[in-house]
Amino acid sequence: MIVTIVGAQLGDEGKGAVVDHYSDRAAVTVRYQGGDNAGHTVVEDDSEYKLSLVPSGAVRGNTGVLGNGCVINPRVLFAELETLRERGLDPDVRLAKRAHVVLPYHRVLDAAEEASKAATELDAGTTGRGIGPAYEDKAGRRGVRIGDLLDPSVLRRRLEYTVPRARALLEDVYGQSVAELSVEDVNVEQAFDIESLFDEYREYGTRLRDSEMVINSGRFLTDRLANDENLLLEGAQGTALDIDHGIYPFVTSSNTTAGNGATGTGLPVTTVGDGEVIGIIKAYLSRVGTGPLPTELDDVTNAAGADATAPETPPASSDQTAVAKYLRQRGGEYGTVTGRPRRVGWLDMPMLRHSARTNGFTGIAVNHLDVLAGLDEVRVAHAYKLNGETVLTMPATTDRWGDCEPVYRSFTGWPDIDWTATAQAGYSALPEPARAYLEYISEELAVQLYAVGVGPDREQTIVRVDPFEQS
Ligand code: IMP
Repeated sequence: MIVTIVGAQLGDEGKGAVVDHYSDRAAVTVRYQGGDNAGHTVVEDDSEYKLSLVPSGAVRGNTGVLGNGCVINPRVLFAELETLRERGLDPDVRLAKRAHVVLPYHRVLDAAEEASKAATELDAGTTGRGIGPAYEDKAGRRGVRIGDLLDPSVLRRRLEYTVPRARALLEDVYGQSVAELSVEDVNVEQAFDIESLFDEYREYGTRLRDSEMVINSGRFLTDRLANDENLLLEGAQGTALDIDHGIYPFVTSSNTTAGNGATGTGLPVTTVGDGEVIGIIKAYLSRVGTGPLPTELDDVTNAAGADATAPETPPASSDQTAVAKYLRQRGGEYGTVTGRPRRVGWLDMPMLRHSARTNGFTGIAVNHLDVLAGLDEVRVAHAYKLNGETVLTMPATTDRWGDCEPVYRSFTGWPDIDWTATAQAGYSALPEPARAYLEYISEELAVQLYAVGVGPDREQTIVRVDPFEQS
C-alpha cells in the first residue's frame, strides 16, 4: 500500500514528525520532488539528524528513494551520508537514474536571478540551493541526469553544451563576472570550468555505481509493492508552493502536490491513487519566502530584535504584533540556517480548502497545536472578502490573493498544559476548545483527523488513525 504525505500550506508544517511516525509501517520512504531546499530534522535515540536530501525514513531503517522528480546535489548527498555513517548509521539510499543533478552553477544562477529580481519585488526568497535553475535545465532539455554521471562520454557532451550557456547567462544576462562573484559554499570559477566539473561528477558517478545506489525508480518501487511492502511518499515544501497550484511566482519549481507522487516516482497514478493522501497542516501559518500573506500578523522585517522582548505571558489576541512574537518564540519560527524570523499568520481556511481539493486528502494531521496555547482567543480566516464578494477558496492569481481580506472566525483559546502527558493520554485528553478547533478544520475540509502534533518529539504526536490500516 502507498501513503502519500503532503504539506497543505507553505512548507514547514511538521511533515517530518508525521513521516517519522508512519515510516515504522513502511519499508521504503520515497521523495518525489525538490532537492536540498527541504530541511528536516529527525531525532532518534536522543541524536538529532539534520537532513535535506536523505529521506527521513532512511534513518529509521527504511530504504530511502529519491525519485525521478527530484533534483539531486551529489555533494550534499554524499556529505549527509558521510555524517550519518560517522554516527554509526548505514542508510540504504537509492537514486532514480532519471532524476536531475544540481550542479554548482545552478547555485550561482539562483543567486544571480534572485538579485536581479529584487528590484521588481518578484524575488521568491529562495533557499539558494540552485533548485529553480536545475528544474529550468530539466524543462529546457539540457539538464544532466543521475544516469548520465555513470557514462563519462554522455556527461562530457552534456557539460560541453550546458556550461558555456550557463556562463553566458551569468555574464550577458545578469551582467555578473565569474572572477568577481562570491556565492556561499561555491567556488565560482570551478562552477563554470568543464574539466573540473567533469572530474568531480564522473567520480560521483563511479561512487554511485560501485555502491549500487542507482535505480529505475518506477520498476524498483513497483517490485517492492508487488512484494507486499508498504511505501511512504514524502512530499517536500507545501501545496501553496507548488509551481502550478501555488502562489506563483513565489513558489518552488516543482509540483509539491500529490499527483506528482506518480509522475515523480514512476509509480502508476492508479496505484498511488488507491492509497491514502494525508495533508499536513500547521495550526497557524508560517512563511519563509516573499509574496502576499492575507492573514499575516505583523511586519516581520522589524521583528528580529523585537522578538527578544516578547511577553512571557500570553498577549491579548487583539494585539497582533505581540501574538506574532508569541507564536514565533513558542513555535521556534526562525530559519534554521539564518536565524531570520519567519512570517506568521492565523490559519487560512480558503488555502486549506484549495489544498484538500487539489491533493484529494483522505486524512489530515494538524501540528503545532501547543504553540497556540495560552491565547485567550484563536482566529481563523474562514473566508475572504474580494471585491465585495465572499470567497471560500484561493483565487488562481496571486495578485488577487493579495487583495483578499480575511473574514475571521473566533475560537476560544486553550490553556498551556503538560503536552507530553496529554499526548500519552490520547485525543480525548486535549482541552475541549482545542478539540473544537480541530473538529472545525476537519469538518470544513470534510476529511478525517488522523493525527495531532502537540510538540516536536516523537511521543508528542497523537496518532488516531494508522493510514496503512485503511483500505
Ligand atoms: P526554492 O525552492 O529554493 O527555489 O525556493 C522557492 C520558494 O520556496 C521560496 O519562497 C522558499 O522560501 C520556499 N521554500 C523552498 N523550500 C522550502 C521548505 O522546505 N520550507 C519552506 N519554504 C520553502
